[in-house]
Amino acid sequence: MILFYKKSELTYHIHDLKKRDKSIGFVPTMGALHQGHLSLVEQARNENDLVVASIFVNPTQFDNQEDLLKYPKTLESDLNLLKESGCHLVFIPAVEEMYTEQVAAKHFDFGGIEFEMEGKFRTGHFDGVATIVNELFKIVRPTIAYFGEKDFQQLQIITKLVELEELPIIIKGCPIFREKDGLAMSSRNLRLTDEQRKVAPFVYSILTKAKEKFKTQNIEKITEWVENQFNNHSLLDLEYFLIADENSLKPSIHKEISKNYRAFIAVYAGKIRLIDNINLSL
Ligand code: PAF
Repeated sequence: MILFYKKSELTYHIHDLKKRDKSIGFVPTMGALHQGHLSLVEQARNENDLVVASIFVNPTQFDNQEDLLKYPKTLESDLNLLKESGCHLVFIPAVEEMYTEQVAAKHFDFGGIEFEMEGKFRTGHFDGVATIVNELFKIVRPTIAYFGEKDFQQLQIITKLVELEELPIIIKGCPIFREKDGLAMSSRNLRLTDEQRKVAPFVYSILTKAKEKFKTQNIEKITEWVENQFNNHSLLDLEYFLIADENSLKPSIHKEISKNYRAFIAVYAGKIRLIDNINLSL
């Protein structure tokens, strides 16, 4: 496995791979890798000649400085895991390497989906994500790029990004990886206290119950039920729960047969923000 710290060196290497017609699977990450990330690497390995991963904690997608400073950093173990998973190249740039002039995001127009859910509660988040992913795509020039469905809205934004920028890249969404007790895997789970970790699977249990209710109940009633479940919870604070169709991501009020719905949730355990979602149509 080869490590790259400089854009120019990776660009040169990729140029050579492209000349030899190699297909490239790309898994961008912010490190603190877990099984979910490794499943993306595995899929990328099965579907491409080579796998490139990046590890970069992108400052412009954080709306909260404490969250940025405390974001888990486990580089040595990340590199071991990537090597064991068969990753070929890893890009680990410094902030100055990715943001040469100023550490600021560009502005993108994704037709409104950037203002729903995460966009509403984390101002500028998707401009930050799109800025860095766009930059990484231009360096790595992947054939296929892989993203977990836990960040479903991010996946939709990136699908729009490649359309907007006319990049010849296939974007693949991959299923959410869960701990045995149902908690969606996330790098931020490392920051949960033992007590918070014990109650965190409650989030997924609520989603599975909401999915069951979706078969017979209307959206308003389900939303009210979910909000009530968190009303008296001593350790978990609900930020939002909503049901939206997968394409517009706008909260739905009525069910339409032709649409695919998902339930989305964001919950605080102390200062740690947990997000999750579930497909209601499958
Ligand atoms: O999902 C993430 O880890 C990040 O948002 C990403 C896609 C690596 C961009 O920084």
